[in-house]
Amino acid sequence: MRTQVGIVGAGPAGLLLSHLLHLRGIASIVLEARSRDYVEHRIRAGVLEHVVEQLLIETGVGANMQAAGLPHEGIILRFGGRDHRIDFRALTGKHVTVYSQHLLVRDLIAARLAAGGTILFEADAVSLHDIDTAQPRIRYRQAGIEHELICDVIAGCDGFHGISRPAIEPHLRIFERDYPFGWLGILADAPPSSAELVYASHDRGFALLSMRSPTVSRLYLQCAPDEDLDAWSDDRIWAELQTRFSREGGFTLQEGRITQKGITPMRSFVAEPMQHGRLFLAGDSAHIVPPTGAKGLNLAAGDVAVLARAVEAFYRRGQTALLDAYSATCLDRVWKVQRFSWWMTSMLHRFAAHGDFERRVQLAELAYVTSSAAAATSLAENYVGLKLPV
Ligand code: FAD
Ligand code: PHB
Repeated sequence: MRTQVGIVGAGPAGLLLSHLLHLRGIASIVLEARSRDYVEHRIRAGVLEHVVEQLLIETGVGANMQAAGLPHEGIILRFGGRDHRIDFRALTGKHVTVYSQHLLVRDLIAARLAAGGTILFEADAVSLHDIDTAQPRIRYRQAGIEHELICDVIAGCDGFHGISRPAIEPHLRIFERDYPFGWLGILADAPPSSAELVYASHDRGFALLSMRSPTVSRLYLQCAPDEDLDAWSDDRIWAELQTRFSREGGFTLQEGRITQKGITPMRSFVAEPMQHGRLFLAGDSAHIVPPTGAKGLNLAAGDVAVLARAVEAFYRRGQTALLDAYSATCLDRVWKVQRFSWWMTSMLHRFAAHGDFERRVQLAELAYVTSSAAAATSLAENYVGLKLPV
């Protein structure tokens, strides 16, 4: 089989790239190890930056998001038992949209298939070949049979555990930081207890109140990185959430049936450069951010917007300048987002190594961010999303 751009992975990065290339008249084939049903139900991120929302609308895949997504014009930082609102609209004129990643994946799959696009599900990419040549190849296995996809360009959109980054590992420099905690996340049939997301920095640890719809809450608790999920009964989870979200004057956290539980490790990771030869890494295959800034999915969308433009210049005008600059263009934004995600994580979580001094400094930083217009604007402009470099 032959195509112009071979895409490994049907997560948000691979699917959006395939869609953006199609709009530019460029053919691609997406290989996805999992089934369509699996990727359409995988619960992950939920917050879309303003710029990503605009990109989806402008490229014709924003209708369901506009109908079902929840626009949020601010967030609440809760500490010292009090609420402090960061008003995105007043500070930046922009908002974010709460819309489940798996619904976006569903929308993108539907758009690609309606446009005659090819997504091969349960097609496991096993190895990449001839990346240093003008005709790289992807070997993949589907239903026990090995196949080969010949392309001009390969996009490695196969997430953190894929095969693309390891294929060029000797050419990469890795920057990483593991955090001494994880997040225990639940999905519950309970109406959101707050109209806006609540980021709570409590002496017992961080907690986040988010949502997926007017009837479904998404809640997270800071926990040990190797936390045993079995040690957390539903009652224990609710009791801990009630404590961490407590507020002067009272706060009612609506409880409900827990329909999903999981533990997410917290990691910052960047592989540089994000390209080698004709292989271009995009999204989680190149970088991971801790979820405190709600950026993982948004960074992936930014990468593929840059890549689609560069691939277009390559086919239309035979220019490789934008492809050559792909990594540097993306990394400028990636590192700014890394900084923001690391900063939010550091400011809001309890660190076992911290003493009372560091805790007082954290609380002073929270007090500063919520009382200074300059500091609040800095948080807000990063949260709603820095402009895309396209
Ligand atoms: P992915 O979504 O990981 O997609 C990669 C795809 O490649 C997958 O479908 C995978 O099956 C496929 N693949 C892998 N290997 C192969 C192969 N060899 N052959 C073919 N296909 C392959 N971000 C937030 O902002 N907030 C959150 O709450 C949040 N929660 C998260 C929870 C979890 C458990 C994880 C893993 C991530 C979470 N993230 C969160 C991060 C966010 O979901 C990711 O940043 C986003 O999914 C990145 O998209 P992607 O397309 O780059 O990678
Ligand atoms: C989510 O809704 O899953 C979510 C929201 C904000 C974050 C992280 C996760 O910072």
